[in-house]
Amino acid sequence: MPTTNAEPRYGAVAQALHWTIAGLIVVQFVLAKLAERLPLGMHKLILLARHKSFGMTILALAVLRLAWRLANPPPPLPPGMRRAAKTTAAATHTAIYALLFAMPLTGWLMSSAKNYSVSWFGLFTWPNLIGPNEPAFKLLRETHGILSKLLFALVILHVLAALKHHFWDRDDVLRRMLPVRRPRMRS
Ligand code: HEM
Repeated sequence: MPTTNAEPRYGAVAQALHWTIAGLIVVQFVLAKLAERLPLGMHKLILLARHKSFGMTILALAVLRLAWRLANPPPPLPPGMRRAAKTTAAATHTAIYALLFAMPLTGWLMSSAKNYSVSWFGLFTWPNLIGPNEPAFKLLRETHGILSKLLFALVILHVLAALKHHFWDRDDVLRRMLPVRRPRMRS
């Protein structure tokens, strides 16, 4: 499979970044929801530390992914798609990209505002972005929670759209993001 995007499919780098980030987002939701149920203590802090490390990994991968996308424009959508569907797809993708930055940044800022260090799997510590600030912490925690619900809704929409393309429209939109050999070559 070619490394770069080449019509009609995504290349290996774009696919690897897409599926790695998708998997890490699932991990993030699971860790956050498990931590939420626990009382403050060692277990909760360990889960949140992992959540922070994976979150910072997503931020780094989002930077790489955006740079790669700018250098390698995605293959065009099937010509048969209606204009409204293309506009919805573009808006959803833009919003997901924005949240891939906004979620880690609000988390990082939130931890900084509480003066909790953000370590990367115990290997090094990211610098605090702001000083201790309780009102900012509360606002950022609220924002992080609201954005997570928005991201959740958009990811569900994104997955449903991909499944609709595959099973209903029977085009190559999902397959071109998968390491499969033979595209259906339908539009
Ligand atoms: C794409 C990356 C991320 C996703 C999808 C994500 C998702 C979530 C979710 C779903 C929650 C539960 C929110 C709620 O229902 O109230 C949460 C909580 C939390 N997140 Fe993240 N997060 C991400 C990145 C980060 C990063 C990078 C940090 C810190 C460096 C962070 C720190 C926290 C903390 C401390 C909480 C618990 C807040 C509390 O005390 O209630 N998150 N996150």
